[in-house]
Amino acid sequence: MAKRVFLMVLDSCGIGAEPDYADFGDLADNNTFRHIAAHPDFRADTVRRLGMGRMDGVTWLGAEGPQIAAVARMRERSRGKDTTIGHWEIAGAISPEPLPTYPDGFPQEILDAFSAATGRGVLCNKPYSGTQVIHDYGREHIATGDLIVYTSADSVFQIAAHEDVVPVEQLYEYCRAARRILTGRHGVGRVIARPFVGEYPNYTRTGRRRDFSLEPPKETVLDALKAAGRDVIAVGKITDVFAGRGITRSVEAHNNDEGMAATDRLVEEDFDGLCFINLVDFDSSYGHRNNVAGYARAFAAFDGWLDGFLPKLRPDDVLMITADHGCDPADVSTDHTREYTPLLIVGDTIRPTNVGTRPTFSDIAATVAELLGVAWSGDGVSFAAEITKRTVSDEELLDAARAAMTGAYAPYSGYQVGAALCTAGGTIYTGCNVENAAYGATICAERTAVLSAVAAGEREFSAIAVVGGRKGKIEDFAPPCGSCRQVLREFTDPASFRIVLSNGSETVSRTLEELLPASFGPAHLKQ
Ligand code: THU
Repeated sequence: MAKRVFLMVLDSCGIGAEPDYADFGDLADNNTFRHIAAHPDFRADTVRRLGMGRMDGVTWLGAEGPQIAAVARMRERSRGKDTTIGHWEIAGAISPEPLPTYPDGFPQEILDAFSAATGRGVLCNKPYSGTQVIHDYGREHIATGDLIVYTSADSVFQIAAHEDVVPVEQLYEYCRAARRILTGRHGVGRVIARPFVGEYPNYTRTGRRRDFSLEPPKETVLDALKAAGRDVIAVGKITDVFAGRGITRSVEAHNNDEGMAATDRLVEEDFDGLCFINLVDFDSSYGHRNNVAGYARAFAAFDGWLDGFLPKLRPDDVLMITADHGCDPADVSTDHTREYTPLLIVGDTIRPTNVGTRPTFSDIAATVAELLGVAWSGDGVSFAAEITKRTVSDEELLDAARAAMTGAYAPYSGYQVGAALCTAGGTIYTGCNVENAAYGATICAERTAVLSAVAAGEREFSAIAVVGGRKGKIEDFAPPCGSCRQVLREFTDPASFRIVLSNGSETVSRTLEELLPASFGPAHLKQ
């Protein structure tokens, strides 16, 4: 079981359009990560080494050497592609509806309720640029005391007011009133206070902007962890995205550098639970501004940071790296894009494997809960068992070999063989013998297992179980032939790699060294 999980969101780092991209006004070739990779300043050595190029849809990145991380491609199930809904889904709350937007302004009943709560009228009530709106409505606002209410393409209710007309604390109070009104069908993602100062035409917005987020619609894994007494540390905009709910400690970070620096500090601290980090620049500074070069450089900086961060992880730590949606900087639109997201999982207890394409980001929440030993009943299905290193008993390995034997194709000899090869992390690859009318083209069960494991990227093995017999009846030991011993020798340490055999009643275990003494191996060809 893990003690600490670091869950890092590379904001907007999608890895390719989801099948329903057209419903979101996107393009088939939207692919944030692939498009930034085309830039000469892009670097991804660390994530490539971890195994990112083994992820579904990311094989173009390439892979060398043994895989280190468990990898998956994540699909978004929610009907939305914004930050809030993406993070909620990662945390185990799928949103069947997108957050509401108001291209024609807010309905009269909302404005009436708002005016009743504030005692002030409303100006504008349209989607508007934040600087233009104070220029166009500022004087009327100052003359009448009415509040400037506007929105954007996002799900936001923004209130602009001059600090001399409405003191900021009062403005925040109005935001809280709006937040209470804007629920259910009108549950906008954020109510935002937009105070400004100065004289017309030189009005300027102040740093006292404040966001009042919508709470997640149901329990998240943050809530579950907090209720179980664990730490839930939020870095960057995470606190805001969850409206503070389920968070035990909030750490400020306004950009990628601050987010990475905070993570470097937190990894040295003792805590017990989740550290949930958002790196915001990818989205806000580069994705939305169609800045491919900036995005590529920011990714290179992150990749370099990650290389230095990995050795700081403790034996019972798990690091997960993912994203909340796409924001392809290479397309004409500056909006988010409906994309799959990557998932890399690293740790001493994690087995390098590919768990394929998962149907929802919420599988992350379920997996985090299981890794930390906390019960979870929200959205998502845990794949913790598939990615956790484990020890395989000889009996389990023999069982797998017996099952594999049923696949044997042995019409000529009638002698069926099954093999089950165990990797260092506890994954089992099986094989059976496959004969051929040209007898020499026959391949043994052991080699079938070794070759499928090697083809899947595996290089470290601990044991192989082999069983066999005429017409599938196991009556005697079926030791590997000379060719199979030599093939096993290529990928294993003969002194420790074990061959487990059964004759149906008795089990024996031998090292490869015992079965192939004084062998010739890769070391003999070293320069
Ligand atoms: N066989 C294996 O599968 N593994 C070995 O190590 C020895 C032989 C198969 C090959 C052939 O289909 C049948 O057993 C008889 O040689």
